[in-house]
Amino acid sequence: MESYYRPTRAEISLDALRSNLEAYRRALPKETRMLASVKANAYGHGAVEIAKEAEAFGIDYLGVAFLDEALQLRGAGIRAPILVLGFVPADGLELARDLDITITLFREDILEAIEALPPHAEGKRLKAHIKVDTGMGRLGLLGAGEAAAFIGRAMRVPGLELEGMFTHYARADEADKSYTELQYRRFGEVVKHLESRGVRLPLIHAANSAAGIDTPEWACGMVRIGIGMYGLYPSEEVNRTRIALEPVLSLKTETVMVKNVPEGWGISYGTRYFAKDGERIGTLPIGYADGFSRMLTGKAHALVRGVKVPVRGTICMDQCMIGLDDAGSPDSPVGCGEEVVLIGRQGDAVITADEVAAQLGTIHYEVTCMLNARVPRVYKRSGQIAIVRNPIVRP
Ligand SMILES: Cc1ncc(COP(=O)(O)O)c(C=O)c1O
Repeated sequence: MESYYRPTRAEISLDALRSNLEAYRRALPKETRMLASVKANAYGHGAVEIAKEAEAFGIDYLGVAFLDEALQLRGAGIRAPILVLGFVPADGLELARDLDITITLFREDILEAIEALPPHAEGKRLKAHIKVDTGMGRLGLLGAGEAAAFIGRAMRVPGLELEGMFTHYARADEADKSYTELQYRRFGEVVKHLESRGVRLPLIHAANSAAGIDTPEWACGMVRIGIGMYGLYPSEEVNRTRIALEPVLSLKTETVMVKNVPEGWGISYGTRYFAKDGERIGTLPIGYADGFSRMLTGKAHALVRGVKVPVRGTICMDQCMIGLDDAGSPDSPVGCGEEVVLIGRQGDAVITADEVAAQLGTIHYEVTCMLNARVPRVYKRSGQIAIVRNPIVRP
């Protein structure tokens, strides 16, 4: 087991992860496949361990944002199919082919670069999924005509295996499904147009976590599950009764110094907070350089002994302070070494990633993604520590 010497850690419940994947599996039609999106270090949860767990679950595909993320997984011994959802430049194509990494294809010059690849010794071909832009305005070919012409050319490239085609919904997490329906119809037109020319790609996919919950009938052949797998609903507007999700990540630390300070004692840089007389202040070994943003100053809370207490003063690079007057009692004051939860549950109290996101003016996706390599990941199964990853000590 890897060690870490600061009590700050992200606890990752492998049971919750499994339960979320099973919940999607149960809710989706049997023939619908599932891709687990482990990009951005698995939304902050740790790409390798999450990918291993998804692989053990029997996931059909893993999704990453760029080739380096796929290389990390292959380097860790992960053998499941991997789709790079973003751009792969020409100089990464040969490596992708040799390591069985599927690329997303939408550019003519990349098609030409595939044509120019030296043939693989054992005849391996580079697998690709064509990306179609149906209204996200990000990556992808526009419309049926452009896609059909591109696919026609791609099918003549001997070193290329066209395995699939996909699109991405821009507003699947909204209650109003009219834009998603429009995108689904546009995508359907592309599929039909290709079929009319005798082209049928084996794996057509469109849905993200939100569409997987609300409109699985518009998923086509596979749902690409990201945020939902981590137990967070994509938005307030999706139908939470359809799939029961459980948050996977908790952010925890401990008090490393506790003291009662005199009236008006300045707390942290800029002394933006002056303590009340005798206020009990706890110091936590976590700060903005861990991904606990300085922009949470004056807004964030922490759970101590099942009570929500405020962060006091400016959040520093490695540390921050909390006011402990509402937790503990004169007979049993909060001391050093007590558990502090910044995201997650403690007793009946909870701080959600959503709540932190609202304080930052962002979405929960960003909150978990911000947690970086300084924060060890402690993976738990059945309440017991199963794996510890501390990339600072062992990258
Ligand atoms: C192409 C693509 N598919 C699927 C996903 C997963 O999205 P979500 O986390 O909302 O399920 C993403 C993430 O942004 C994506 O970019």
